[in-house]
Amino acid sequence: MAKKNEEHDLRQRLADLKVKTSVLEVKEVDREAMTKKTVQLINAHDDNVTRLTCDPIKVLDRGSFETTGEISESPVDFDYVMQDFNDRLVRAGVIPGHPMFLGFIPSGHGTYPAALGGFLPAVFTTYSTVHMESPAAVQIENRLIQWVADLFGYPAGHAGNISSGGSLATLTALAVARDSRQLKAADFHRCVIYCSEFTHYAVQKGLRAVGMREAVLRKTSVDKSFKMSTLDLEKQIKEDKEAGLLPFLVVATVGTTLTGSVDPVDDIADVCERHQLWLHVDAAYGGFFALCDDMKQLFVGVERSDSLVVNPHKGLFISSGVGVLVVKDGEKLQQTCSLEQTPSVYTGMQFFSAEHLSPCELSFELTRSFRGAQMWLPLNVFGVGVFREALEEKLLLARYFYRKLKETGEFELPLEPELSVVLFRATAPPDVDINNFNQQLLEDLLSDGKIFMTAAVLGDQYYLRVCVLCFRTHIEHMDLCFSLIREKRGHLWGSAQSNA
Ligand SMILES: Cc1ncc(COP(=O)(O)O)c(C=O)c1O
Repeated sequence: MAKKNEEHDLRQRLADLKVKTSVLEVKEVDREAMTKKTVQLINAHDDNVTRLTCDPIKVLDRGSFETTGEISESPVDFDYVMQDFNDRLVRAGVIPGHPMFLGFIPSGHGTYPAALGGFLPAVFTTYSTVHMESPAAVQIENRLIQWVADLFGYPAGHAGNISSGGSLATLTALAVARDSRQLKAADFHRCVIYCSEFTHYAVQKGLRAVGMREAVLRKTSVDKSFKMSTLDLEKQIKEDKEAGLLPFLVVATVGTTLTGSVDPVDDIADVCERHQLWLHVDAAYGGFFALCDDMKQLFVGVERSDSLVVNPHKGLFISSGVGVLVVKDGEKLQQTCSLEQTPSVYTGMQFFSAEHLSPCELSFELTRSFRGAQMWLPLNVFGVGVFREALEEKLLLARYFYRKLKETGEFELPLEPELSVVLFRATAPPDVDINNFNQQLLEDLLSDGKIFMTAAVLGDQYYLRVCVLCFRTHIEHMDLCFSLIREKRGHLWGSAQSNA
């Protein structure tokens, strides 16, 4: 009897919980209302950022950074939550999708189809980790990796993965290089990695993550265009070998973050070949400029590298969270990332496909989002051609802006842009420190939130830096940028002189 009552109570409780949790299955009518509200907010945002003199790129009111909403036991009205979300996300901080975002490497400013590529797999709950659960997702991702490999001239036999970004892709490449050289922890302190002083710090972070914190990271000198000096590279390798160290990896960068310079990859590949070193190419920023015919010569030698990283969430205008790693010898990637034996929880199931390797065999992740959709949708909806054109536009905008600054005679420009980074600094009035003058100029430019750019400190010299990569940035924005800089410089010059 007691048992019967117990079961009855349990059934009652379960029925009650079923009713209470039924709200999690949102009804069609409510889905429509939610979607309508969401689309209204999206449209308001997109209409705004595409106007030339739109809202400031940077909201200065610190109050708007604070979140007011508490996470409460009971539900909050959907419209209120969305409005709050919108106000805090869109109106606070710096907006990467803004056409006047010219700082860092503009990243994560997704086109609408790219954003849908994030949304749809979330709705369809696509589990892209293993072939059995979503063969199409796995094949799409492998097709995208093939496309990237073809772009850089990698022969058959490669494998790759779509990671959350350049840093995770780099970390994985370092692990593969480490394993392929069969390096053991006892020797890590003797292992040497070569890069230039302009290599992205993702390499250093990655080395830590793969357990090689105590390895030696050598920074080679650079030439006057801030490119890695292959003479210095080779000299350092020889010295290290003579000293009993274990040189094993060189990182060449196609588009350094600070200066946009492209290391001489072909020459570096010669050095790597002579000394049997793994060559990793960090093309996170510059990689997709390979789509532009005129830029092909900059990529010569990339096909000789052992691994490469490129960031669709930079050069393909895709929302944040999409990087690509390709390893020339795909088996090496698989050996580093997958286990020799299938975990026992999977025993008896045909999870994997010999023909279509699954992301979890080629990365350190297991459950992951179907990131490939963020690349697949825009590449198909728009076609590759428009990306080629948009990237050409960014290159030309950088050159245009460089020339305009140069023509004034009011700026020093240390480097003709190779990609879409322009470095410059204003000449300072007599007796005024040029570094301080330009630091103040940047502060003035950022102060009213009409533009966002960053600085570049080269040695002990302070420069201003513009990187053109947002798909919304066009000639009128570079004209606006140019006139804002000149206007602020003029004011600063005037007040510096009147203070003198
Ligand atoms: C050259 C370079 N490599 C690597 C990275 C790191 O990429 P992510 O931010 O996607 O992790 C960046 C980021 O800007 C970069 O510019």
